[in-house]
Amino acid sequence: MLECVEVSKTFGGVQAVKNVNLTVKQGEIAGLVGPNGSGKSTLLNLISGVYKPDRGKILFDGEDISKKAPYAICARGLAKTSQTVQSFPDMTALENVLTSVLFSGKKHAAKKNSLMRAKELLEFVGIQKEKFTSSAKDLNVIELRRVQLARALATEPKMLLLDELLTGLTPKENDEAITLIKLINKQGITILMVEHIMKVIMGLCSQVTVLHHGEKLCEGTPGTVCNDPEVIKVYLGKKFSVDEEE
Ligand SMILES: Nc1ncnc2c1ncn2[C@@H]1O[C@H](COP(=O)(O)OP(=O)(O)OP(=O)(O)O)[C@@H](O)[C@H]1O
Ligand SMILES: [Mg+2]
Repeated sequence: MLECVEVSKTFGGVQAVKNVNLTVKQGEIAGLVGPNGSGKSTLLNLISGVYKPDRGKILFDGEDISKKAPYAICARGLAKTSQTVQSFPDMTALENVLTSVLFSGKKHAAKKNSLMRAKELLEFVGIQKEKFTSSAKDLNVIELRRVQLARALATEPKMLLLDELLTGLTPKENDEAITLIKLINKQGITILMVEHIMKVIMGLCSQVTVLHHGEKLCEGTPGTVCNDPEVIKVYLGKKFSVDEEE
């Protein structure tokens, strides 16, 4: 479904992403991990069209999207949530999602369905009903991440890119989020997620790519990656154990 071929991006003197090859198959949940500053967010921003690659190609659903604008990529069925939460601060949670439903141009965009769809999505991502009419600026960062997810889902994507969606959650909230991501995937949505919590990666992903200084260090199943001596050295620090991470 997604194929990055030798993708590179430089910011001034910083080589943020270097010759990265990455493939995500239709229907799977793939993980992208690596130390801070290793290029994970930049790669997601290249895929979603926020940045254009200096070199290389990005294919989505068989089509070259490397030079397309973010809205055009989103319209083709590729949506992203950002690491730094973005919202329309003076609009309510419901209006934030409604905007996305209405502009998606998809089947729920008809006015009579749109409000119902926006409410359904907010409920699905776990926003309490009494918060539907709160201004986005009055929501906490966890709630804003959920609203952002609802907005991404409102575009009816074939594939979702999630950049640290779970950061800051308690272990219980983490488990709820894992259930939610599985549910989204069961609806047929392919997922590529950036996540630091290895327990989440282990529980969700069928394949993982590790970036280091913008380059692909290793890829494989979560088990393979977690046992790779280089990954342990530059990222994990020591061999991963589910119990210790709690
Ligand atoms: N817009 C930008 N302008 C200049 N440099 C940038 C920009 N975006 C990213 N960088 C640099 O590119 C490198 C990769 O950053 P990126 O945000 O992709 O890392 P990351 O793996 O997502 O890190 P983190 O785990 O902290 O979120 C860093 O050195 C960063 O400072
Ligand atoms: Mg990042």
